[in-house]
Amino acid sequence: MGELLTLEGIILRPQALPVRPSWEHIFGRPAPLLLEVGIGNGEFIVWLAEQNPSANCIGVEINRDYLLKARNRVKSAGLTNVRLVPMEGSKALSRLFAPETLTALYLNFPDPWHKKRHKERRLVNEAFVWLLASRLVNGGQFLMVTDYEPYAHEVITAFESCPAYVPLWEKPLRTELTGYYQTKYARKWSALGRSFFYIGFRKILNVELPEWVLQTYPLVSLKGDETMPQVALKTRQPVDWSKLWQSFPKGLLWQRGDNVVNVKDCYLGDEAVIVDLVVTEGRLMQRFFVSIHAYREGVMVKVHEASHPDPTRGVHRAIALISLIVKRFLDAELQHHSCEAHAWSEAFLAI
Ligand SMILES: C[S@@+](CC[C@H](N)C(=O)[O-])C[C@H]1O[C@@H](n2cnc3c(N)ncnc32)[C@H](O)[C@@H]1O
Repeated sequence: MGELLTLEGIILRPQALPVRPSWEHIFGRPAPLLLEVGIGNGEFIVWLAEQNPSANCIGVEINRDYLLKARNRVKSAGLTNVRLVPMEGSKALSRLFAPETLTALYLNFPDPWHKKRHKERRLVNEAFVWLLASRLVNGGQFLMVTDYEPYAHEVITAFESCPAYVPLWEKPLRTELTGYYQTKYARKWSALGRSFFYIGFRKILNVELPEWVLQTYPLVSLKGDETMPQVALKTRQPVDWSKLWQSFPKGLLWQRGDNVVNVKDCYLGDEAVIVDLVVTEGRLMQRFFVSIHAYREGVMVKVHEASHPDPTRGVHRAIALISLIVKRFLDAELQHHSCEAHAWSEAFLAI
């Protein structure tokens, strides 16, 4: 597990983390798992780990500077029960935790995305609440604090729509929680005289995830042993790489609802064309390179080795789409492909 650990054993390297890793192995002991998403400067997770020495605490954060500050704080505190992961919160929840393994999730002042058009970026919504219900152990809890009242009510409505939960207190919302740590943001908003809204729920029932939740978080369905798709084409004449590069389409390649395949750019290599791609599936967005390169009697299309997307259906679909475009452009023959059948036929219908 050594190769997983970077920066003095506290921050985990996301590309090296398998789907649903053994946390027991990573921490070197079995223990209840406490998760904080959006750790900021790490004050809360240090407090949490000190308060719960017999728990394994995981902090997730997308901002690198914050992550490094948090790492320093964990290190100075001499804590061995904290690991930090640079990853988006819903991706972490769907990718890193097996069903019924989390004891608690904490959110302290998650970004509320005030603007109406940014509302769908909020971490907690109905789908997230279902996802969390499948990851929490029975009796596990969700605790959040925000200074933005509309978000607090939205979160409560989302929790109340899922039968897995009951409120932690008589009512799910309160404006004070004695003994709870005051983070940097708490102190900042407090100094400005703002009110806080604490929301708490406990999971009391196991739920089966509905299809729409699985589509919103496609990593939930990955087992971790899936292979990357690739396609081999046989060409009738030598490939004009420059022409292929110049004619490769850019922009939107495919869209159905919130499933999108978008070509950002295209680069000419040595007997190769590299496509810079963004694949969106529900709340998951993966950006990676696809390489179209000389191979035996033709070309091979596959994820570039410098990229590490998870092999979701969207990635299969993207490889299939690109291969079929190349196949048509080069008037090539399909030799073999390892794309998922459904993704292949979707691409086939689109091209
Ligand atoms: C308003 S700050 C609060 C920081 C800290 N919890 C506190 O109370 O001082 C929100 C933090 O959440 C992080 N964040 C926002 N959205 C996130 C997401 N979807 N996944 C992981 N981290 C996220 C931001 O980078 C930022 O550090």
